[in-house]
Amino acid sequence: MKRIVIFASGSGSNAENIIKYFQNSEEIVVTHVLSNNEQAKVFDRCERLNIDASLFDKDSFIHDDTVLNFLQVEADVIVLAGFLWKIPAKIVNAFPNKIINIHPALLPKYGGKGMYGMNVHKAVKENNEAETGITIHYVNENYDEGAIIFQAKTSVSSSDTPETIAQKVHELEYEHFPKVIEEVILQHE
Ligand code: GAR
Repeated sequence: MKRIVIFASGSGSNAENIIKYFQNSEEIVVTHVLSNNEQAKVFDRCERLNIDASLFDKDSFIHDDTVLNFLQVEADVIVLAGFLWKIPAKIVNAFPNKIINIHPALLPKYGGKGMYGMNVHKAVKENNEAETGITIHYVNENYDEGAIIFQAKTSVSSSDTPETIAQKVHELEYEHFPKVIEEVILQHE
């Protein structure tokens, strides 16, 4: 069994979708969700889905090795599903090509610090983009710059709002993210 630990900072709808996708898998299991946000709705989802979830702070993530040590014991693969802190170098180096992020745009466009969630969709709308999409990529030390694994596109029309763009992007995320995670893990076998 390959064990996934998911990091999530907010609602956690992707985390829930991934947990459900692997619920009956004989090869891959989501063992734990970690969050930096006490208020995150992902905690309610984990309670409902009966998945262990823990809160951590900057000290245990960056300044000492609590989170790193936990991951080294508990995780084969780390999935970032709406996680908003940068991953420190010591964790990136301990998990080369084993940390997978989803970004709600077609990188390298609309990436970098501050570009997350609705900020991305508002910028796409303001720039009158004809298309947007999702990017699934490995994580390195810089925001949104690791090697791209998969992208999928959706069209944006003049009647779209940031909210409808978000909805279209979420649909792509739900459809593709678990499958791409599965492919990456099984390919590495
Ligand atoms: C998702 O759209 C994800 O792509 C995005 O946050 C949303 C989280 O939604 N991630 C980023 O913006 C990372 N830079 P969720 O909590 O409902 O899964």
